[in-house]
Amino acid sequence: MRRPRCKATAAWWLACVAGLWLLVFAPGLGARVSGPCSDCHTMHNSQGAAPMAYGFTGSGYEAKADPNANLLVTDCLGCHSALDGSTWRDATTGAPIVLNTSEPDYGASSDGGATHQGLAAGNFYWAGQDDANGHNVMGSDASLSMAPGNTVGCGGDSCHSNLDRPYTGSGFLNGRAACSGCHMVSGSLSPSVTGWHHKDDSGPVVNSAEQGWYRFLAGHETGDGYGVSGLEDDDWERTTSSSDHNEYLGSSGDKTDTQAMAREGNTMSGFCAGCHGNFHEQNTSGAGGSPWIRHPSDAVIPAGGEYAAFIVYDPLVPVARAGLGGAASPTVNPGSDMVMCLSCHRAHASPYYKMMRWDYRSGDLATSLSGCGVCHTRKN
Ligand code: HEC
Ligand code: HEC
Ligand code: HEC
Ligand code: HEC
Ligand code: HEC
Ligand code: HEC
Repeated sequence: MRRPRCKATAAWWLACVAGLWLLVFAPGLGARVSGPCSDCHTMHNSQGAAPMAYGFTGSGYEAKADPNANLLVTDCLGCHSALDGSTWRDATTGAPIVLNTSEPDYGASSDGGATHQGLAAGNFYWAGQDDANGHNVMGSDASLSMAPGNTVGCGGDSCHSNLDRPYTGSGFLNGRAACSGCHMVSGSLSPSVTGWHHKDDSGPVVNSAEQGWYRFLAGHETGDGYGVSGLEDDDWERTTSSSDHNEYLGSSGDKTDTQAMAREGNTMSGFCAGCHGNFHEQNTSGAGGSPWIRHPSDAVIPAGGEYAAFIVYDPLVPVARAGLGGAASPTVNPGSDMVMCLSCHRAHASPYYKMMRWDYRSGDLATSLSGCGVCHTRKN
């Protein structure tokens, strides 16, 4: 079994030191990929007649006889995972970690530091602990055979319905599953935009295919012209404060149908609605507003009443903006900022039931309502 550089054994320490040295001279956090091509690509998947490519198996890394797409040395989780709980960024490639095989000990906490949630999207470690804590990208969900609220009729094997099994239709989506069900990173079956990891996303606002969209999140309604806009925090929210966080775009427009980004603009909630369309609907009567039938998303936080006290941005309960400025703002603006899917959920997985950003299911009422109370200031 071939171990990836820096990932597993002390035998690679020399290579790691070299890698760290390179990182010191690499461009700042959050930029496009950098470093020697050979850190990430292998030309023939062969060195000394032994295969170079490796893949992530669920608990470790194993040599792969078959080459990866784009001549990559490994698959998504080969670069984006770590076999401990403290690595948040891969030492060789600089890849942000989305799966630690031990409980992550970094990133946001909603319980005073007892539990850490990892980077902005959360950490797939928690989906491994309980299927209901996250998107299941490595196997099917024990209780959900479909994406709840899905409104797109592409059949049971499409990304809109399942993330664990490759789509067997045609076109560029053919074969997509798991990570590439959401991140439109190119492979051998790519849309017309390729080389996402090499795009210049220095921004500050990332809002085009040329920049790889926000975190490589794109849709393919009427082609591949839609993607998520946002401001990318430079350490993926490993550290946060009221002025140190991602910025998300919202759209206060009419949401009486279930269409995603084509109607909602390049918003994060519109992206989620690609697979959970019903959950983005306002109500059945058309105009929207109270009484709501689902908790609203991309609804403007009213400027008066209990919401007026919500003025300091809390990265644990983020809001979406009507427009994106040049820097992360510490201020919430009732009257224009919006509640959105990621106000309550992490995108990958969290320590809590249904990927919540705090323990909404806790038996302790104060804990359960803590995140709700950030907006509904008179109900906690
Ligand atoms: C830190 C990792 C990393 C390094 C270093 C790196 N690449 Fe890549 N490269 C990737 C990944 C990941 C992809 C996957 C495709 C994507 O992101 O859409 C890729 C895709 C590509 C592609 C195919 C997509 C396209 O744009 O046509 C080419 C060609 C490529 N890289 C060339 C290079 C060269 C040449 C170097 C060295 C100068 C290099 N890469 C260094 C990670 C890396
Ligand atoms: C060879 C290593 C490698 C592989 C394989 C790889 N990545 Fe990455 N990825 C990186 C690195 C390095 C970065 C950080 C680039 C940067 O600093 O923005 C990155 C960043 C990202 C980001 C965050 C982009 C941003 O704007 O910050 C996403 C999303 C991502 N990768 C998804 C994927 C997916 C999905 C796959 C599989 C299809 C994949 N990666 C495969 C190395 C890799
Ligand atoms: C490409 C399709 C797709 C997108 C986009 C998508 N989801 Fe999902 N989601 C699924 C599928 C499939 C399931 C059910 C299986 C599972 O949990 O993995 C699911 C399940 C969920 C669950 C329940 C988790 C559980 O296991 O009980 C939540 C909460 C959720 N998604 C929230 C979101 C949010 C928030 C977004 C936007 C950041 C989003 N989803 C984007 C496909 C998607
Ligand atoms: C259901 C859709 C979905 C799936 C599946 C998914 N991601 Fe993500 N990912 C997102 C979203 C949305 C964000 C941005 C989260 C934010 O900014 O709050 C993100 C962020 C990231 C980042 C940046 C780090 C961070 O936490 O913000 C990386 C790297 C990444 N994803 C890699 C992956 C890899 C690797 C996989 C497969 C193991 C994967 N993603 C599966 C939706 C998804
Ligand atoms: C105000 C907080 C909040 C917002 C905003 C929110 N959700 Fe949820 N979501 C929850 C809670 C809490 C649950 C757990 C079930 C329940 O209590 O209804 C949940 C459950 C889910 C589920 C699982 C349903 C099932 O049958 O298991 C999905 C999928 C989901 N949400 C997606 C979304 C999407 C997509 C958006 C944005 C369009 C969104 N949520 C916005 C709080 C929220
Ligand atoms: C980011 C801010 C935010 C968070 C967090 C949030 N809400 Fe809301 N909530 C709103 C907004 C905005 C409305 C719509 C207000 C309006 O225009 O009537 C709303 C509406 C509601 C309503 C419907 C009231 C009606 O008029 O029909 C209920 C019930 C509710 N929220 C409960 C919750 C619960 C429970 C939680 C925690 C799981 C929660 N909210 C979290 C912002 C938020």
